[in-house]
Amino acid sequence: MSNITFTMIKPDAVADGHIGAILGKISEGGFKIKALKLTQLTVADAKKFYEVHAERPFYGELVEFMSSGPIVAAVLEKDNAVEDFRTLIGSTNPAEAAEGTIRKIFARSIGENAVHGSDSNENALIEAQFHFSGREIF
Ligand code: PPS
Repeated sequence: MSNITFTMIKPDAVADGHIGAILGKISEGGFKIKALKLTQLTVADAKKFYEVHAERPFYGELVEFMSSGPIVAAVLEKDNAVEDFRTLIGSTNPAEAAEGTIRKIFARSIGENAVHGSDSNENALIEAQFHFSGREIF
């Protein structure tokens, strides 16, 4: 599955009522949904998921935010999925994100930035398997 990426619609965008609009953008962007669920990370889940960022100054804030409310987790398929999805979502900081990108439209701030996108094919697979069993990926 090298043409997949993993995404989360983060607690800010779920709370702000943007699930439908963001899934619409993802679909319009040519991504096929392979797995999808509304779920919530525990603090332990969020710590593990973001382990690679443990030394960064915002780690505690990121873990607290990502476990603060429901998220939508999804596995998406498209040619060049990882890179194309990162283009569709825009820069981490919505103030720097290109016009029309998901973060530009829906994010609140650099911390509460509406969506996650995997940064490599390898991590896409790890992240997909973190959230979904084999039976849940189609
Ligand atoms: S990346 O993919 O590693 O280049 O992204 P990066 O910009 O380094 O950010 C990694 C994740 O940390 C989140 N982030 C922050 N959270 C809170 N506060 C601040 N200042 C901040 N800066 C970055 C960012 O949203 C990334 O989370 P994900 O879920 O991967 O989008």
